[in-house]
Amino acid sequence: MKLWGGRFQKNTNSLVEDFHSSIGFDQRLYLQDIRGSIAHAGMLGAEDIIEKDEAARIIEGLKAIAKDIAEGKVKFSLAAEDIHMNIETLLIERVGDVGKKLHTGRSRNDQVALDIRMYLKDEITNTQKLLLELLEVLVDTADKQAATIMPGFTHLQIAQPITLGHHLLAYAEMFKRDYQRLSDCYRRVDVMPLGAGALAGTTFPLNRDKVAAELGFSGVSENSMDSVSDRDFIIEFLAAASVIMMHLSRLCEEIILWASQEFAFVELDDAYSTGSSIMPQKKNPDVAELIRGKTGRVYGDLMTMLSVMKGLPLAYNKDMQEDKEALFDGIDTVQKCLLVFAPMLKTMKFNAEIMYANARKGFSNATDLADYLVKKGLGFRDAHHVVGHLVNYCIEQGKSLEQLKLQELREGLRVLEKIEVNGENGREKYIHEDVYDALKLDNVVARRATYGGTSPVRVKEAVKRAYDWIAGQKL
Ligand code: ARG
Repeated sequence: MKLWGGRFQKNTNSLVEDFHSSIGFDQRLYLQDIRGSIAHAGMLGAEDIIEKDEAARIIEGLKAIAKDIAEGKVKFSLAAEDIHMNIETLLIERVGDVGKKLHTGRSRNDQVALDIRMYLKDEITNTQKLLLELLEVLVDTADKQAATIMPGFTHLQIAQPITLGHHLLAYAEMFKRDYQRLSDCYRRVDVMPLGAGALAGTTFPLNRDKVAAELGFSGVSENSMDSVSDRDFIIEFLAAASVIMMHLSRLCEEIILWASQEFAFVELDDAYSTGSSIMPQKKNPDVAELIRGKTGRVYGDLMTMLSVMKGLPLAYNKDMQEDKEALFDGIDTVQKCLLVFAPMLKTMKFNAEIMYANARKGFSNATDLADYLVKKGLGFRDAHHVVGHLVNYCIEQGKSLEQLKLQELREGLRVLEKIEVNGENGREKYIHEDVYDALKLDNVVARRATYGGTSPVRVKEAVKRAYDWIAGQKL
């Protein structure tokens, strides 16, 4: 007989039984469900809502069930629908009538909200741990590569030379914010809903604070209807997970580019790349591609939950049972991706010579020539114009800026009619031998020493701050 079977005269249609059962996926919540029930039963006993020895027998039964499930000894039943009723049915089978008292003052609606919140709290912490591990790899690598020069891009066109360490620390900032977003999300998950009952509260004098304290929650929910009917905390988590995936995906995209023959900036470790079944020469960045692909999957989980929730009248609706697969998939996917990405990054080899050679291409020091002219007295717009002309000239001549003779560089000033050819205000005034120093790649990078800039000195400082930040996170 079903736990709710009193008013029914027919059996559930077998298709419906299969259709509405969630035990196939919500058994993952068994430990949270049992821990929640133990706290609830203990409170019922302490508040004399049931006898203390009844509570003790219920708790003992629940503990034994937890042990048996952990050891794989329990076969769940589809007919019992979900994890909540599976456990309750087992309890009644094992401890007899006293087991029927467990559900006093409780509904599956507040029970499921409790279980998901407990589960998600742990998984947020687990995700944060993985983020910290990834951050450590990123910062270690940035430390080693603080002075490695590579091209920086805008529009995927070479823009200015940067340091590899700086590039990696950009991602460290993103993952730090992701970590903080999860901490923020955690605060709103950390609210205890039991006591809401089906929707309106309960007639029994429950001690909600006691249950919350016992289960490690920071507080109890304010409104019973809200407690059982919203899943915004899941949406928040999936949004935070989506942002993590977006960040991972961008870095993966770069790794895929960098590993291509055209870039050849990196080589992936054999253990983190795969071959082709037909082309013997291939070594593909499958892990990075899969992470990029799975990003869409987590966005899908978020979209699922936003769509499931958008039209639901208060309070609980069975639509909400759809929350679990989306949430579990989001958790599993983001965690798996973080787990495999960190060692892939750690074992990746960087080809500093190729990166350096590429950083010299594309007139990446053009801004520095303009800055040089500004320091000699030109307005920046004029300087920009002059350098633009010089770049054109270089393209015609097949040369780079630093390969031009002093005379050729000075010729570039011709475009500014106000500047005389010779004399006191002549072209010599603006360009001297030291221009070649200004154009040297290492100097170009070293001079970008604003706080947060790419110079190796600044990167080293930023690495130190990042290590301090990591050490400051207590989980
Ligand atoms: N399995 C259900 C869920 O996941 C539990 C809550 C069921 N409540 C109900 N009134 N049918 O949402």
